[in-house]
Amino acid sequence: MVTKKELIAEIKSLKKELKSVNKQIKSKEYGISWLDVPEIFEEECQSKIPVLKEVKEKTIKNNDGKPTHILIEGENYHSLTCLKQTHKEKIDLIYIDPPYNTGSEKFRYKDKRILKKFPDRTLIPKDNPLKHSDWLSFMGKRLELAHKLLKSDGVIFISINYEQYAYLKLLCDKIFLESNYLTTFTVKVRHEDRILKGDRDFHETTEQILMYRKSDDFKTIKRLLDNSSVAKYVYQIEELIHHPEKITLGNKEVEVFRPDEYKIIKTDPSKDNLQKINIRGSLKEGNTSGRFQMKYLEERNHLFNYLYKVPKMGDDQFGFRYFLTRASESHTNGFYFQGVPQSKKNTKEDPYANFLDFEDAFNNVGYEGGVEFRNGKKPVDLIKYLINIGSLKKDALILDFFAGSGSTAQAVIELNHIDNGTRQAIICTNNESDIAAEVTYPRIKNVINGYKRIKSQKETLFELNLNPYNLKNSNVIPDAIAEFDSEKFRKRYDEIKQEVRKDKFIISGIIKKKEKIPGLGNSLIYYQTDFSVKSK
Ligand SMILES: C[S@@+](CC[C@H](N)C(=O)[O-])C[C@H]1O[C@@H](n2cnc3c(N)ncnc32)[C@H](O)[C@@H]1O
Repeated sequence: MVTKKELIAEIKSLKKELKSVNKQIKSKEYGISWLDVPEIFEEECQSKIPVLKEVKEKTIKNNDGKPTHILIEGENYHSLTCLKQTHKEKIDLIYIDPPYNTGSEKFRYKDKRILKKFPDRTLIPKDNPLKHSDWLSFMGKRLELAHKLLKSDGVIFISINYEQYAYLKLLCDKIFLESNYLTTFTVKVRHEDRILKGDRDFHETTEQILMYRKSDDFKTIKRLLDNSSVAKYVYQIEELIHHPEKITLGNKEVEVFRPDEYKIIKTDPSKDNLQKINIRGSLKEGNTSGRFQMKYLEERNHLFNYLYKVPKMGDDQFGFRYFLTRASESHTNGFYFQGVPQSKKNTKEDPYANFLDFEDAFNNVGYEGGVEFRNGKKPVDLIKYLINIGSLKKDALILDFFAGSGSTAQAVIELNHIDNGTRQAIICTNNESDIAAEVTYPRIKNVINGYKRIKSQKETLFELNLNPYNLKNSNVIPDAIAEFDSEKFRKRYDEIKQEVRKDKFIISGIIKKKEKIPGLGNSLIYYQTDFSVKSK
């Protein structure tokens, strides 16, 4: 038997332990951690001052009253450090599409930041999360600067894929804070059957875009929808008798029509018709009609297909509302019929969905802006869509510091053209594999001055269902290839394409047509990163 004294001693000891555990828990850091990877730029900054140098011969000047955009060529750590001096808390919206760390050989630029060894040169095991350290250190430094550049009501969108998503989310939670996380958009980028990497376990058809705000000064923007449609108003009800039975439900005198005493007619949509609404789920308690049905008609639902005309309900032109009981024992719910509400506005505001289907846009991204840039080019329409979700300001300052081919600059220029805006783009890219010189700059020039775009027109020449029967007949496909991928057809088409799509083997001929895209004006100033010597 434990004595009272012993029990008190035990409680005291437990309390002490609890206090110490609490202290430990509170002092611990949670979340992601990584090793800092020093960059050459940091070393250079010790003796020199990072600056931007204007490249005058690359200026594009148009006296058209339209905005002047900025292209900065160089390492973005450097560019962002300079922008911190000139644009601190001045940026409304940032979109970036950083390297996803896939390590893909095909990329024109370096896309692999994997830590392979511990500082003592021993190898980091395959599945050790520290492997992501290089990428996190690289991204962390740039996102810290980006955070400083954003206005208090600014937002940032970051494209990423499944492999790196979890690491990026935790990194952003640390820099922007979890309370400023708004959503993750899942973007459909390719068709389920358009398999690029058949050796993978799963075929990735979507990517993610993380959205964070700088602070709660940012107010979420709603999607404006056309609410003027009367497409669902297709019902009319004909009463076949003049003196139906009358009963009192609540304080209302309700007319009751038996199944053979009315007719429901489905007709073309009209503002004078009725919409049929299933009374189910949250609707049962969510509006007056739902509540009326639950309170008074539910107990009469053994009377199938009865129509009740309830006066003084709804805000449509009719001043009454019809309720229809369920059709049989096997049906659970009843319905009501409502006319177009008098209070209905022609537009309504809905929250943006966080699933975006841009499959078609991704299919056509190839020659957007008149330049080719494989593996990583984002559709202009996707970026325009994000800008509209992120800022209503027509004079917003928009930054992309992983600009690649310059899609963001084109999106900004096009959006201004659509709504007479004066948004300004600042885009930064390094010049790996001459991207800035060969792709980014020529693209902006194209958009400003106009260019010829190659548009592909596809004609199907051969199509075969890939079923076991056709596959057994093993000569069909080689014969088709021999026939259609031949000199005769190559003369007629610019390209002969073989592909497997929707369980079909398809050979198509592609004709590439040149299309003239008019210039949209605007101006550009071109900078390169540089250093000036520190004075002693
Ligand atoms: C995925 S691509 C962006 C593609 C772009 N969204 C588009 O639509 O064309 C990433 C780009 O970031 C550039 N980049 C990577 N690391 C960089 C760095 N440290 N500084 C500047 N640019 C960098 C690469 O050269 C590449 O062009």
